[in-house]
Amino acid sequence: MPRKLLVTGGAGFIGSNFVHHVLAHTDDHVTVLDKLTYAGNLASLEGLPADRFRFVQGDIADAPVVNGLFEEVDAVVHYAAESHNDNSLHDPRPFLDTNIIGTYTLLEAARAHDRRFHHISTDEVYGDLELDDPARFTEHTPYNPSSPYSSTKAGSDLLVRAWVRSFGVKATISNCSNNYGPYQHVEKFIPRQITNVIRGIRPKLYGAGENVRDWIHADDHSSAVLTILDKGEMGETYLIGADGEKNNKDVVEQILTLVGKEPDAYDHVTDRAGHDMRYAIDSTKLRTELGWAPSYGNFEAGLAATIDWYRTNEAWWAASKDGVEAFYAAKGQ
Ligand code: NAD
Ligand code: DAU
Repeated sequence: MPRKLLVTGGAGFIGSNFVHHVLAHTDDHVTVLDKLTYAGNLASLEGLPADRFRFVQGDIADAPVVNGLFEEVDAVVHYAAESHNDNSLHDPRPFLDTNIIGTYTLLEAARAHDRRFHHISTDEVYGDLELDDPARFTEHTPYNPSSPYSSTKAGSDLLVRAWVRSFGVKATISNCSNNYGPYQHVEKFIPRQITNVIRGIRPKLYGAGENVRDWIHADDHSSAVLTILDKGEMGETYLIGADGEKNNKDVVEQILTLVGKEPDAYDHVTDRAGHDMRYAIDSTKLRTELGWAPSYGNFEAGLAATIDWYRTNEAWWAASKDGVEAFYAAKGQ
């Protein structure tokens, strides 16, 4: 029986990937609720079947709008967020409004309408690991967020847990590592460096570039979320990762090599305040209990395809590029 899904933040990088994934792999109907902030882009939702897809522009913190939509759907997948650490260090307020109050508004609607709720979160809620620590994050790692972004995501996770325990809301949570792929905003690390190279600007590496991120292709994140929506146990948290640990210096050098430039043709710039050193995900629970596995085994091939996408889709990102670079330049980044 096809479901009616509400996807918040479906005009963003990962939310739009999930919408394409669901409409391609199921008979479900999807409504996207998205405020279209600077990070939302309707062009990311082109080519979807009109009889199974609907877009609504609105704020997840707007209770009347949210309640009207919850009434019409069977389940909700909640991606909408302020998502960029550097922005949160510059102006934390929108992170509180959307990530905390917005999630609270959705949870109250899930409670009132008794709807299945899946909350999308991040590995950053666990803080960071040392470079030489053999440990990886698991579902039992204590919360220890570092930035305004990650602390508001941690707060939103805790709200979900409380609404499950106190009100019986039928919710699951997933915490995923760093995503890459097409349609990612040029403020983020990989697209920023790719579009810098396309524009003839030298890539910018924060500090020494030893920080490690655990990269996963956005398509694999989407298949994992659909698996949890279909088979996840209520009240449970699942970590999503694809064993993709790499340091930032290696990623920049790989991008430069793939575009035929000298691998050292980049600049070291001012480090991020409070910069987390390393993230690493142990996704054993999701793999063994729900049978999920990633399909992108080769980071270099995925990165090469991502570079090609930014080369052929300059119209998608060009309007944002100059403003993003001006923001970073003002901070010496
Ligand atoms: P994004 O910034 O690309 O997209 C966010 C979307 O949410 C945009 O379309 C924006 O318009 C919308 N939005 C923002 N505030 C809203 C509001 N108040 N009401 C309605 N819509 C609003 O973000 P992303 O990278 O696609 O991340 C999506 C989710 O995945 C976030 O919850 C983020 O914490 C989580 N996540 C991201 C990553 C990653 O690597 N990007 C990894 C793990 C988890
Ligand atoms: O771990 C999951 C998180 O991954 C998500 O929750 C966030 O929404 C997402 O933005 C991402 O957070 P990061 O802060 O890890 O991603 P970002 O792309 O901003 O930076 C990745 C790394 O690259 C980080 O160590 C900072 C560094 N960096 C970033 C930029 C923009 C640079 O060295 N140079 C840059 O220009």
